[in-house]
Amino acid sequence: MDFSIDVLRSGEQATMRLRALYRQFGYSEYRMSRFEEYELYADNKAFLKSGDIITFTGAGGKLMALRPDVTLSIVKSTKDGGGLQKLYYNENVYRPDGFEFKEQMQVGLECIGEIDTAIMGEVLLLAQRSLAILGEPIKLYVSHMGFISGLLNTEDLTSEQTGEVLLRVSEKNISELKRICSGYGLNEGFIQSITTLTGLHGSYEEVAGQLRSMSVNAAMDSAIEELEQLSGVLSKLGALMKLNLDFSIVNDLSYYSGIIFQGYVRGIPTKILSGGRYDKLLRKFGKRSGAIGFAVYLDLLERQAAATDQMLNIALPKGRLGEAAYGVFEKAGYGCPAIYEESRKLVFESPEHGVRYFWVKPSDVPIYVERGAADIGVAGKDILLEHSPDVYELLDLGLGKCRMCVAAEKTFSPENLGRTLRVATKFPNIARSYYDRQGHGIDIISLNGSIELAPLLGLSDVIVDIVESGKTLLENDLEPVETIVDISARLIANKASYKFSHGAVSKLCREIAKLL
Ligand code: PRP
Repeated sequence: MDFSIDVLRSGEQATMRLRALYRQFGYSEYRMSRFEEYELYADNKAFLKSGDIITFTGAGGKLMALRPDVTLSIVKSTKDGGGLQKLYYNENVYRPDGFEFKEQMQVGLECIGEIDTAIMGEVLLLAQRSLAILGEPIKLYVSHMGFISGLLNTEDLTSEQTGEVLLRVSEKNISELKRICSGYGLNEGFIQSITTLTGLHGSYEEVAGQLRSMSVNAAMDSAIEELEQLSGVLSKLGALMKLNLDFSIVNDLSYYSGIIFQGYVRGIPTKILSGGRYDKLLRKFGKRSGAIGFAVYLDLLERQAAATDQMLNIALPKGRLGEAAYGVFEKAGYGCPAIYEESRKLVFESPEHGVRYFWVKPSDVPIYVERGAADIGVAGKDILLEHSPDVYELLDLGLGKCRMCVAAEKTFSPENLGRTLRVATKFPNIARSYYDRQGHGIDIISLNGSIELAPLLGLSDVIVDIVESGKTLLENDLEPVETIVDISARLIANKASYKFSHGAVSKLCREIAKLL
């Protein structure tokens, strides 16, 4: 019987083509067991996306884990020295996805040994060719942890402050970046450089001048030198491939030191390829070799949507905030008169301005944007903090200003409570991380509304909730005890849309920013 590749599912077809590609470049297959000792992951938590791992007790009583990652297993068992090892793998990993664990199909490659710019160029070329196997058009963006850490080292930051700065960089959240850096009392020159770096987006040739003007130390100079060489290597590879840079791609500084990169395919709402240079991981295993590799997340192919039109899809929160936000879009030149029609329609188009608006439940806006059903959206910072969606946070619109507070009855005192504090809230993640930072364990009581009732009826000791005018607290004999964070509406964008519709999204941002 003749065999046709068409009988295979899209992920399986892609796997076969990727394996053939890597073999053609001299990579050999690395096979491994599904289980590892849990210790490997416990010792390297920051290398993993999540610390949630499926564990079980193996023979002999050892705590074992279903493998959440492939790279750690390869690094652990690879030999040090003895030339360059070029390996590829096709394995499943077991990771949390929402409320469940999911078995995810991964294909990837690793080069371990002496890593020079020729090898880095080959890996980037293979990343680009891997993306082209998965669909088109594609985008591959590179960042350099050496440049970023060189800049961070010009200031005396604690590791917690570094984490906060890097989070804002990864969100392209310039307004918040400026606010926290000023709060830490950092130098104006540093703030200028880190915000410029966060917004940089273009080919090496386009941004090289800006990188040079930012460089203040040898680490930053050598990162530029490496990017320059790589750009040359790529053009020699004849791949018609430009070295596109985006420094909002960041990774854990204790593992990654050099280039890191992410790849996108149109129609898939999130990165489908991710990789980088991780020499520092090998040092943790006492090995001298360098290493670079990437993984392709094949399950995401199932999320691929057919490319539709070129209109920007904008999710607005139903209600007062959404109406105010629409007013800003209209003033910025993105009006859609149909939106004022008396109807129960939820979708409104303005083909002449290239936009389509959806009215969605406020707490759902980040879901639409993260999953690519909307390219951009307007969401309250409270919802963003509560759900931590993987989106860019491009502008603080300054609308819907209020604060997230701890509030309690005037007579309440936490002293001598003699038991765990009970906190009622619609925002359990915000409440938990606030009390974690204070080093307090709490009992969370998750409610959906009328939170102020909880302390009045003895259901909780305090509440964590939004305070706008303060009227609801006042009229219920409660008072704010502490402000956790100031809240306002933010313009957010899907990370893939930002890449594929960069011209339209950045123009819209510029027009809106002029009004703020
Ligand atoms: C929000 C919040 C407070 C109130 C604060 O409730 O949860 O209850 O607004 O506003 P104020 O300080 O101006 O009085 P929302 O209207 O969303 O209703 P909810 O009770 O269903 O949460």
